[in-house]
Amino acid sequence: MTTEASASPPDARIGTESDRSIHEVTDFAIRIAREAGTIAMEGFRNRELGIDLKQDFHDMVTKYDRACEEHLRRAILERYPDSTIVGEEDGASEGSGPLAWHIDPIDGTANFARGMALWAVSIGVALDGEIVSGVVYDPANDHMFWADDRGAFLGDEPMRSWGFPEPAQATVVMNFPLPRDLVHLPELALEQFADASQQFAQVRALGSSCISLCWVAAGWVDATISFEANSWDVAASALILRRAGGTYRTYLDGAEQPEERDYLNPHYYATVPGGDFGILEEIMRTQSMRPLPANR
Ligand code: IPD
Ligand code: CA
Ligand code: CA
Repeated sequence: MTTEASASPPDARIGTESDRSIHEVTDFAIRIAREAGTIAMEGFRNRELGIDLKQDFHDMVTKYDRACEEHLRRAILERYPDSTIVGEEDGASEGSGPLAWHIDPIDGTANFARGMALWAVSIGVALDGEIVSGVVYDPANDHMFWADDRGAFLGDEPMRSWGFPEPAQATVVMNFPLPRDLVHLPELALEQFADASQQFAQVRALGSSCISLCWVAAGWVDATISFEANSWDVAASALILRRAGGTYRTYLDGAEQPEERDYLNPHYYATVPGGDFGILEEIMRTQSMRPLPANR
């Protein structure tokens, strides 16, 4: 795979002379995503996972999530010591430099823990708040999705999103409604799920936000939505999707939000180019009216 840095102008904000390019950052993120993937694969389909519950019985963590995040944090701070790191398992650590790393060591933990090959390591890197590099590595399928200013790639191959813009031909991947989507407007959510099932050719739930977004980027599915996502779920894959030509939009309080730093927004709707899915827009408008949990 050709993931070596090609020449790019140095960016004095990033660090030492040898580290001063976004391409170097991406190539480094690809390397550590692969390393974290190798650690996680040791636990995949293994029965000694050390599972703990987090918020409730729908929300779990394994010792492999923790080991992968620890590996990523250590590697990032060794190479880019001033970094801010925002990770799912260990929270945020503030650095003084311009790079912020939004990392999900295993996105799709429930799939990972059950032995389903639908989970990935996700690393999104922001420079002065703007996401400039995104890497999503699905080790069970050896899919390395990545993007920066060179474009979006699956391994060595450039990726262009494409698909079916009308529901009757389209496949939507959504976990909606999750238990947390049934807290505020449960009847409406169930009706909307029924409507989507009738209007779309196919509705699927993958259980990994970053894989769902990368599959829209690859042109393997046509749309995806989710509510109450975190920056570590989407920072990398939203960039990958946009660089592949797809659309990524966020909603809050019933309205579409500006693009700037929207990886920090919780509710998203993504499609292949030209996607026109009124039912999904309606779900976004109504369901994004919910109050956010106190910890956000
Ligand atoms: C979850 C997955 C899931 C999505 C949830 C995420 P995790 O991440 O991406 O598909 O619906 O919102 O929290 O817990 O497996 O890292
Ligand atoms: Ca996640
Ligand atoms: Ca996770």
